[in-house]
Amino acid sequence: MLRDSEGRPVDEGGWFIGHGTDVETRWDDDPAIPHLTPAERFFVRNHTDPPVLDADTWRLRVTGDGVRRELELSLDDLRALGSTSYERALECTGNGRRYFAEQQGTFRPGTQWGMGAIGVARWTGVPLATVLEHAGLRPEAVQVMAVGLDASYVEDGVDHGHVRRPLPITKALDDTLVAWAMNDEPLPADHGFPARLVVPGWVGIASIKWLGELRVTTTAEESPWTTKWYRMHGPDWSGDEAVLDRMPPKSLIDSTGDSTGDLRVGQPTVLRGRAWSGEASIRSVEVSTDGGRTWATANLTGDNEPSAWVAWEHLWTPSAPGEHVLMTRATDTDGRAQPDVAADNDDGYLFDAVLRHPVTVA
Ligand code: MTE
Repeated sequence: MLRDSEGRPVDEGGWFIGHGTDVETRWDDDPAIPHLTPAERFFVRNHTDPPVLDADTWRLRVTGDGVRRELELSLDDLRALGSTSYERALECTGNGRRYFAEQQGTFRPGTQWGMGAIGVARWTGVPLATVLEHAGLRPEAVQVMAVGLDASYVEDGVDHGHVRRPLPITKALDDTLVAWAMNDEPLPADHGFPARLVVPGWVGIASIKWLGELRVTTTAEESPWTTKWYRMHGPDWSGDEAVLDRMPPKSLIDSTGDSTGDLRVGQPTVLRGRAWSGEASIRSVEVSTDGGRTWATANLTGDNEPSAWVAWEHLWTPSAPGEHVLMTRATDTDGRAQPDVAADNDDGYLFDAVLRHPVTVA
């Protein structure tokens, strides 16, 4: 994305809602949201300034006691290992945080995202499993610490080091990609040029950008991005329950009404939206036009891949004027459904509750 000389986002197309140096995508009652989010409209979440890296001199180091030989790979070396592409969502862990206050009356500090901190792109790269095999992965390896090359993150005078997060070996060997392209173009600077991890269906922080090192170890290591942040904190959370990995199912309404956005009694209108879930496809989306008293099943349209999103539509003919509350509830192919209330936690992660969408019928 374009930035001014002080690194602030310049939103020429009016495509974003700004949050300091980060942005979320705004679709504004658009009935034709593309399945793939263009890179220039994709949300951005950076803990520090995006680093300027030279693809010719950039190297990815593979280190640690979990591999037989340490490697330093150039972009060409990575490409020579093979390439694969898939369409997957990337979603910030705190996407929807503002609804903790708006729907549940509990303000949670942090970026006050609406539901725009998600996008779906076609990612191209080499499976992380291939890179690890190339380095002689040992059977005793338990995790991969992915380390970013952005500046160390300093908060209140404390230097927490490079943005980094351990990935369990099972997910590393499953569908994680070391990606160098987004929608068939090189990664933009804000999205991790020249290479990043894509960890499908997991909290966005797992998908480390500006990848510099993959530290493969036979013992588990933590990072502040698994202990201090990106972990559930609060009275109800402890142990494994507090660990953040897979994202829950979510859904929303993108457009209502006719081309002017108007809703009229007796006039049929097509409600449209999207639904998605981490590591699963969407089995169904239910729609309520009466604040949750009754529900009908919406039609899913288009692609419905796991860890991406599916579009849905539902025909509605309002029968009474005045205020109506529209709601949608997604169930994924693992049977997980959106709750009425999102589980509270101090940092406002994983807001997955059914969203209320008030409209007025004339
Ligand atoms: N990786 C590094 N190195 N530095 C970061 O600040 N932000 C993380 C993740 N990877 C981040 C990072 C977070 S919190 C999210 S939600 C995603 O990248 C955002 O990816 P995007 O900016 O490409 O949309």
